[in-house]
Amino acid sequence: MSKAFFLLLAALPLLAQAVSFTNQIKPVLAKQCSGCHQPQSMQSGLSVTTFEALKKGGTKGPGFVAGKPDESLLVGYLTGAKSPRMPFGGKPLPEEDIELFRAWIREGAKDDSAGAGAASAHVPKVPSQPIAYKSAPLVTAFAFSPDGKMLAVSGYHEILLNTVEGKLIARLPGKSMRIHGLAFTPDGKTLAAVGGDPARSGEAQIWDVETRKQRASIVASADTFFGGALSPDGKLLVAGGGADKSIRLIDVEAGKEVRKIDHHEDWVFQGVFGVDGKRLVTVGRDRAAKLTDVSTGRFVENVNLLKDSLMAIVRHPKRDWVAIGGAERIPYLYRLDRPRAMRIADDSTLIRKFDRQDGPITALALSPDGGKLAVGAEAGDVRIFNAETGDLIARCSGHQGGIFALQFSPDGANLVTGGFDGHLRFYDMSGKMVRDFVAAPVELSRGN
Ligand code: HEC
Repeated sequence: MSKAFFLLLAALPLLAQAVSFTNQIKPVLAKQCSGCHQPQSMQSGLSVTTFEALKKGGTKGPGFVAGKPDESLLVGYLTGAKSPRMPFGGKPLPEEDIELFRAWIREGAKDDSAGAGAASAHVPKVPSQPIAYKSAPLVTAFAFSPDGKMLAVSGYHEILLNTVEGKLIARLPGKSMRIHGLAFTPDGKTLAAVGGDPARSGEAQIWDVETRKQRASIVASADTFFGGALSPDGKLLVAGGGADKSIRLIDVEAGKEVRKIDHHEDWVFQGVFGVDGKRLVTVGRDRAAKLTDVSTGRFVENVNLLKDSLMAIVRHPKRDWVAIGGAERIPYLYRLDRPRAMRIADDSTLIRKFDRQDGPITALALSPDGGKLAVGAEAGDVRIFNAETGDLIARCSGHQGGIFALQFSPDGANLVTGGFDGHLRFYDMSGKMVRDFVAAPVELSRGN
């Protein structure tokens, strides 16, 4: 029996009944496409994490034309009729998967997600075997341990603990396909993570660092969580919601969600606590940096003047100042406290603007003394600025693709970058690269 015939047989039972978007199309998109086509990284303007986003499509138009597979961009890019063939730079999908897309569109491209109910019925699982990596997975998040000796790095369905020299210490497998935020408590004993499966589930994980045991897994949403910053005392974790636009506060010790805050009008990507932990500032696609009172969840005011969607925020280590950035490509430094009563189009909280970057800003970091601001974007070099004067200090180059995470080492000697190409790169303050490694244990595939 030929292989093609066998595959055809295997596909037949699926094709006999209507193709399900939720059960058959979405998992393929989540696995093969969402790395580059999701709200945080929308290549060609396309996100594939929800039915609506797929329908809306990217810069070339809607993702599909119901009933007409051959006129649908999705099919065109999957078959290679349109180039570059998708998944970009990867192996083409098996023919039977492409046929599923064709069949689903032919049958009218129905959305059977049935709202959040169906989506929250998805119970994410911890993989039963360690992931075998054929190439470096995206670095969507990483964090230094407070003593500066260890790095926790996002993997696929796991967190990787490495020494700062790049030696793998431990693998912490979890339910979330992707980890979007990582932070150690100030005593270094607990590691908190947020992430999820795009358009399916959001999760926060709490780990005991010494025993490497997961203390809690909080699955609390039908879409990925972003953010993942801790309050200064390490007791509260903030997660930003995807499709449900919420902010979640998680009690680290108790391992449970204690508050859901709903005053953003769109996806929330990042949040930081103020110096005393009593206030929280969150940013998202609705362009606002929203100041919230932590104990009541009450919205105080927008810190910024709304310009364009925001993806990154970082707080000054000693002051109630925040740097924000996003689609407008310009980093801004704001203070949380307005010097006078708010007026219309009031930007009196603005301290400083920095140079425009080569792409939308995706990550920001401030040095431990607050003197330097590092800016990462979807394209171009990572730049280090003098936070006091706005002058450019250094450019860190060598990345293949966008940056998703940045942090200064606790001693302030290095800036570390992570992103699309899966490498962690250490730079000194002159912008010279001093170390470069992949945290995940990548196996070289046979034959190349
Ligand atoms: C490694 C990153 C990457 C992955 C993975 C990826 N894409 Fe893309 N995709 C791109 C880039 C880059 C472009 C823009 C290509 C160009 O026009 O030069 C693009 C463009 C597209 C477009 C055209 C959108 C428009 O309107 O402009 C479609 C459709 C698309 N991709 C579908 C997919 C599908 C389906 C998958 C999964 C099977 C996938 N992509 C996986 C990077 C990726």
